[in-house]
Amino acid sequence: EKVVLAYSGGLDTSIIIPWLKENYDYEVIAVAVDVGQGEELEPLREKAIKTGASKIYIEDLKKEFVEDFIFPTLKAGAIYEGKYLLGTSMARPLIAKRLVEIAEAEGAQAIAHGATGKGNDQVRFELTIKALNPHIKIIAPWRIWDIKSRDEEIEYAQKRGIPVPVTKEHPYSMDRNLWHLSHEGSDLEDPWNEPKDDVYLIITPPNKAPDKPTYVEIGFEQGTPKTINGQAYDSVELIEELNRLGAQNGVGITDMVENRLVGMKSRGIYETPGGTILYLAHRELESLTLDRQTAHYKEMIATKFAELVYDGCWYTPLREALSAFVDSTQQTVTGTVRMKLYKGNCSPAGVKSDYSLYDVDLATFGEEDVYNQKDAEGFINLFGLPLKVRALMMERNKKS
Ligand code: ARG
Ligand code: SIN
Repeated sequence: EKVVLAYSGGLDTSIIIPWLKENYDYEVIAVAVDVGQGEELEPLREKAIKTGASKIYIEDLKKEFVEDFIFPTLKAGAIYEGKYLLGTSMARPLIAKRLVEIAEAEGAQAIAHGATGKGNDQVRFELTIKALNPHIKIIAPWRIWDIKSRDEEIEYAQKRGIPVPVTKEHPYSMDRNLWHLSHEGSDLEDPWNEPKDDVYLIITPPNKAPDKPTYVEIGFEQGTPKTINGQAYDSVELIEELNRLGAQNGVGITDMVENRLVGMKSRGIYETPGGTILYLAHRELESLTLDRQTAHYKEMIATKFAELVYDGCWYTPLREALSAFVDSTQQTVTGTVRMKLYKGNCSPAGVKSDYSLYDVDLATFGEEDVYNQKDAEGFINLFGLPLKVRALMMERNKKS
C-alpha cells in the first residue's frame, strides 16, 4: 500500500515519514510543492529518501497558483474579515489537488498531511481531497499520535536519525508563498503585544522605509494585472516585482485577530506586499469601470468569496458560480492605476480606463447642458414618497 505525503522538508513533515512506515507499513511517496516559498526544493530529494520515503515529487506550481487561484481571488476583491488577503488559504487547494493527481497516478490509497487538528489548513486539504477523489483515505498524524510538544517531536526525530534544525531564531509558525508570509504563535499570541520589527522577514518596517515615495503603474486587462510601468510581465514575475517594490516601501503588513473556521480566534501577522498593492489598485480601477449596482452587489460577493476560500471550499459549486459572476463583471475592468508607495502606505495616485463610466460633463460643477437639474426635483419627490407618507401617519397618530 502507498501513501502520498505533503512534504515540506521541515521537522513536522519529516517525522511523519517514519511514523507512517512504522504504524501503517505504508510505502511513502513525498510530494514537495513550490508555490513560491522562496526555498530551494532540490535538496529535499536526498533528504526525503534518507528519511525513508521511496520516492519524491518536486512540483513547481507557481504559475498555476497565480493564474488559477490568486488572480480569480483578486478579481473577486476577496479579503477575509476585511484584512486578510488569503495567502495560505488559496495555496492549500492547489497543493491538495496535486496530491490527489499524484495519488491517482501512483495508485496510492491514502494522502497524509502535517496540519494540526486545531487549524484551518487541515480543513482546506481534506475538503479538496474529498471533492476531487472521495475514495482516498486521509491521514492526519497530528490528530492521531501522542507527540504533543516540540521537545517530543525532536526526541522522536533523533531516535530515528532524522536531522533536527539546530536553532530556531524565528520562533513563529510561518507559512510562505508567492503571495504572502504569515506569522503566528510565540509572543504574538497576546494581541496586546505589538510585533517586534524582526518579525518581518520580507517587508522593511515602515519607519525604516525610504523617505521618498515610489510610484508604480499597474495595467489591468479584464481584472487581471498584466503590466508594471508599461512593461508586460509574466504572471509570476509580476507578483515578484510588486513584492519587491511593496516590501521596500513598508507596504503590506496586516496584524489581526481572525476567526478560524474551527471555532477559536487566532492572532496573525501577514506580510503581503505585492498583494496589497494589487488589491487596492484593482479596487481603484473598479471604482471607475463598474456601475453602482454591480459594484455594490460585488461587495457582497467578495465577502462570501473570501469566506469560501478561507473555509477550504474552493472546489464547490458555489465558488465556481461566484467566479462566473466575477468574470462577467470584469469584462470592462481594463485600464491603468498609478499607486504611490510611501512608508507603509499604498494610496491611489491616478486611474484611467477606456471603459470609464466617469463622465466629467455629468459631474462637473462648471457649466453644463447634459444634466437637467430640474429632473432631480421629481426624482426626489418619488424617492422620498414613502418617508413623507410615514411622517404624515405619525403626525396623525400623535394628534388622536
Ligand atoms: N491563519 C491563516 C490561515 O488560516 C494562516 C495559516 C498559516 N498556516 C500555517 N501552517 N502556518 O489561512
Ligand atoms: C495548523 O494548525 O496546521 C496551522 C494553522 C492553521 O491551519 O490555521
